[in-house]
Order: sequence, then C-alpha cells, then structure tokens
Amino acid sequence: MYEINDTKREILFEKLKNQIEINPSLNRTLVSFQANKKEYFYRWFKYKEGFSKKLVQFFLSQYHPAPGHILDPFAGVGSTLFAAKELGWKATGIELLPVGVFAFESRIASESVNIECLKEEINKFLLTFKAGENNIPKRINHITITKGAFPDDSENNLNYFLNYCTGIKDLNVRKLFEFSAFSVLEEISYTRKDGQYLRWDYRANKSWGKVKFDKGKIYPFSEAITKKLADMYQDLKFGNDDDLFSQLDEEKGFTGIMPKLLQGSSLELMPKFENDIFDFIMTSPPYCNRYDYTRTYALELVYLGYNDEHVKKLRQEMLSCTVENKEKLNILKDIYKQSGKTESFDQIFSMYNTNDAMLEVNNTLVALNKKNLLNNSNVPRMVKNYFLEMAFIIYEMYRVLKPGGYSVMVNDNVRYGGQEIPVDLILSDFAVNFGFELEKIWTLPTGKGNSSQQMGDHGRSELRKCVYVWRKN
Ligand SMILES: C[S@@+](CC[C@H](N)C(=O)[O-])C[C@H]1O[C@@H](n2cnc3c(N)ncnc32)[C@H](O)[C@@H]1O
Repeated sequence: MYEINDTKREILFEKLKNQIEINPSLNRTLVSFQANKKEYFYRWFKYKEGFSKKLVQFFLSQYHPAPGHILDPFAGVGSTLFAAKELGWKATGIELLPVGVFAFESRIASESVNIECLKEEINKFLLTFKAGENNIPKRINHITITKGAFPDDSENNLNYFLNYCTGIKDLNVRKLFEFSAFSVLEEISYTRKDGQYLRWDYRANKSWGKVKFDKGKIYPFSEAITKKLADMYQDLKFGNDDDLFSQLDEEKGFTGIMPKLLQGSSLELMPKFENDIFDFIMTSPPYCNRYDYTRTYALELVYLGYNDEHVKKLRQEMLSCTVENKEKLNILKDIYKQSGKTESFDQIFSMYNTNDAMLEVNNTLVALNKKNLLNNSNVPRMVKNYFLEMAFIIYEMYRVLKPGGYSVMVNDNVRYGGQEIPVDLILSDFAVNFGFELEKIWTLPTGKGNSSQQMGDHGRSELRKCVYVWRKN
C-alpha cells in the first residue's frame, strides 16, 4: 500500500514502480560526501552537499565504461568532473555558487602547482607570520548575517593573511594559500553550518534561543592555517593509500584533460549548448528541501568579497529550493526568446502544466497552506518553482545528450505538511515526456526491507533517496 492515497500520485507510482529498485551497492556513504572524507582535496574543504568520487566512477563503469564527454550542470566543487577525468573523460560543469567555483579553481591549482615552490612559500610564511599584528588593512567586509562571526584576533590575522597572499608571485601557490584560509573559516568562527542558516556559538555574545549552543573548540587562526597548509603540502607531496596518488603516475601525480567549469546558472547556460554533444550526464541538483546554500556558505562568500546585495541576487538565481525564491518564469521566457527558442519554451511549459501528479502536489500544498498546516507559507511556491525549473533543466539535459547517452541524477524525496512529494517519480515522468527512457530509479537501501514493505509497515513511509538513470534513445 502506497502511503499517498491521492489518485494522481498513486497512478504515477503504479506506472513507474517496476523501475524502482533497491541497489545494495549504493549506501549513504557512497552517495554522500562521506566517502570523500579521506580523499585528497575533499578533506581540505568539506563541501557536504557533494557526492563521492566513488559514486561517479561506479555509475560510469556500469553504464558507460568508455570515456567520452561528461556534463554536470550542478557541479558543486567538481566531484563529477574530476572523478571522470581520472578515468580519461573530457568533463564540463556548470556551477553558480562562487564557493564551488573557487574550490574547483583551487583544485586545478593543486594539480598544477610546483610542490617545491609551495613548500618554500609555506616555510617563508611561517617564518614571517606574526600573529596579532595591528593596523592591518581590512579585507574582510561582513554582510549582515556574518557580523561578529570571528573572534577579533582571528579576524585580524585573516586580514593579515589575505594581504600577505597578494604578494605571492606564483599564481598556483597563491591560489592554494587563499584556499587554505577559505577552508578554515568555519573552524575559526563562532558558527557552524546548519543547512538553512549558520548556527551561532554562545561565545559570540549574540542572543541565542532556548538551547545554548557550544560548538566545541574554536581554533585560533594561526593554529588552523598552519595545520591546513601542512596538510595540503603533505597530501600533495606524499598522498595516501586512499587517494589517486597511489593509482597514477608517480612523477606528475595527475593525468587527463583538465575539466572545464562554467560559472553561471544552468537555466541560462544550458540552452546555449548545441544538440547531442555529451555522452553522459551525472548530476545532483539542489534538493527541494529548503536548504539555503547562500546562508550556509555566507562566511565563504564574504571571504570571496561578496556583499549583501550580491548574496541576495545569488540566492534568487539559484534553482528554487528555499522559501525565499521567487518565480523565474519571465526570466526563463526571456532566455528562450533571446536565443530564438520560443517554441522550446512553449513545449516545456505545456508539458509542465499538464503533469497530473505534480499538479496534485501543488494543489494539495496550497490547500494545506490555507488551513495553516505548513510551517512556512511559501512552501507551495518553492515546490511549484522547483518543478518548473527542473522541467527546463531536464528538457535541456535530453537535448544536449547524444542518442544512446545516459543521465544519472541523485536526489531525495521530501515531505511537507505530512505529504510525501515523490520528486523521483515526477522528475522521471518529466524525463519520459521529453523522450528519455526511464532505465531505473535506484533507491538506497535503508536496512528496513524493500521500499514497498517500508511503505506498508511504517505508518509514515520512509522518504526515498534515489539515483535516477534515464537513457536517450
Ligand atoms: C547538491 S549540490 C551538487 C554538488 C556536487 N555534486 C558536488 O559533488 O560538489 C547542487 C549544486 O547546484 C548549485 N546550483 C544551484 N542552483 C544552480 C543553478 N541555477 N545553476 C548552476 N548551479 C546551481 C549549488 O550551488 C550546488 O553546488
């Protein structure tokens, strides 16, 4: 028995259920950032929204063992791109958040840097660094939500460090220095990333709610940066058993064509690609779960020089997944009009407008909202816009793939007001309507039996965490 009794979703479930299957090879560790924890680079800066290198390589080996050209339209820090590159693929990504772009550029620097040169600069810095220097030109300009995030000493030293970096002549070394401080921002701050916002430690002397939050040790900047630089050097020089140094050419350590990352929104950039150019797409779009990347990564955005206005603008450009996102329909209309693709716009919009299961979800959420049964009144708008924007993305994914190419997407279902939103079924239905064949909706094992059992046995069904595989015929 499917928990959702509402007809349209049930009908869709009946239609697609034979393609839903638990895949014992997929576990939470493999799918999430966890499996990257010991990997070079990923352990320097933890982008927890990322998936693992092993997951990418697992799907490539299953569906397309011969290298070709891969696309990730929500590239994050470039996990897909670098994992594919290691296997000889040409890789292109799109990422909007400057945090991912900066991490990607730093990774390129790490693969190109002269290690001896890095060592020399680290030694020079450690000899000359004087913690606690005064009258340092200010480089960190806070936005409203980050004010007071660092203890004064650390902020002073961070400013010192950023000024110091401008004097480093070797651009790869400079990038890695800048990346090292970028990677310690959370540990030297009074904050912790908490999904929808930054959580503040009680020592920041801000007012806190009922529960006093203690994040544990707050590292002084000098301690954190010394350790980070040492770790980076160590990894680059010696590697470890788990990372790619053990597999690749000793002399250089890295092989393959450098991936390319386009900074911007996929909604805007994908329509500019030619038809049939990629062999494979592997991606994980933002989930429809209210996660706010611009708040979670506010410290990093400030570090990169973003002000309040930039951050607000960025938040609106992101694929709608927060209650603050406004509708982008007119923006999308303009994008398609300007590229002479009004017909495509109409096709996508009409497909979107006739998806029964999605319309049922939207109407149900509006009805729950009227009864004040949602914990935020903008949830219906967010969900509606999420599906609208994903319809455009999926249409473009189909268009840019070569016939025979696969698209692999990692995403989670969500629940609002007690209603399960079967994101996997709705997006796969979009995909089928645009011409894809639904190969599989792989679900992650939960240890509690198969998905139909879970649905019956637990009054509240467990939300599916899935990897969808679509094929362009
Ligand atoms: C779930 S994360 C993907 C992480 C990636 N798989 C990795 O391993 O790093 C989704 C990414 O989509 C990005 N994003 C959100 N809206 C976007 C848009 N309109 N265009 C391009 N990227 C966007 C977010 O910044 C985030 O990095």
